[in-house]
Amino acid sequence: MDPKMWIDVNSESFQYSLDHFVIPDHYETALSSVLIPHGVIMDRVEKLAKLIVQEATGPLVVCCVLKGGHQFFADLVNYIKKNVTRGGNSVPLSLEFIKVKSYNNDVSGDVKLSLTDEECKEFQGKNILIVEDIIDTGKTMVQLLAKLKKFSPESVKVASLLIKKTPLSNGYIPDYVGFAIPNAFVVGYALDYNEYFRDLDHICVISEHGKEKYAVKN
Ligand code: IMP
Repeated sequence: MDPKMWIDVNSESFQYSLDHFVIPDHYETALSSVLIPHGVIMDRVEKLAKLIVQEATGPLVVCCVLKGGHQFFADLVNYIKKNVTRGGNSVPLSLEFIKVKSYNNDVSGDVKLSLTDEECKEFQGKNILIVEDIIDTGKTMVQLLAKLKKFSPESVKVASLLIKKTPLSNGYIPDYVGFAIPNAFVVGYALDYNEYFRDLDHICVISEHGKEKYAVKN
């Protein structure tokens, strides 16, 4: 099996009952199930870090896509550092942050990149690793990559914790993927619904009640 292949999370076997895990009381009625428990996320992130270190050819600029990517980014960078200090390839890291917004409630909208040309110039001639929480339609990443490539980086790779199995996909597939998930709206591990649920450790499926409770009324 290709070690870079993602873990395929399908809805039948990966829908854990909320009762089997510790869930913050304030979210209990807003969730329908645990899709990926926190411990499994961490183990997978460790493996992705090892693959990234093995394949790195020089210093890496690790670029966090905020806000949803911040937890994956923090854990990934920690595991990369551990792998390097435990005898993996020596990979010097520098860290950058980009802010992107494309969702209102659970509907994908126009992609807003807060990335100036001045900031992009920093990427010239560098090996960039973009760290994203989830690829859904793929629109955000295709737009971000198009912008970065105009500024002649040496290389650009993408690590996404999740890829959603959706018929709306534009076909974009990142270089490193943690899990392929069913076509549902998920929250937790810094993924949000209108800024809620970032303080939840497991990746969970939001319930209909949760969508209503935390909906933004336009
Ligand atoms: P895309 O442009 O459709 O690929 O959407 C990517 C962005 O949408 C991600 O960076 C997330 O911020 C957000 N997103 C997509 N699906 C979900 C989800 O299920 N939960 C939370 N955020 C999501």
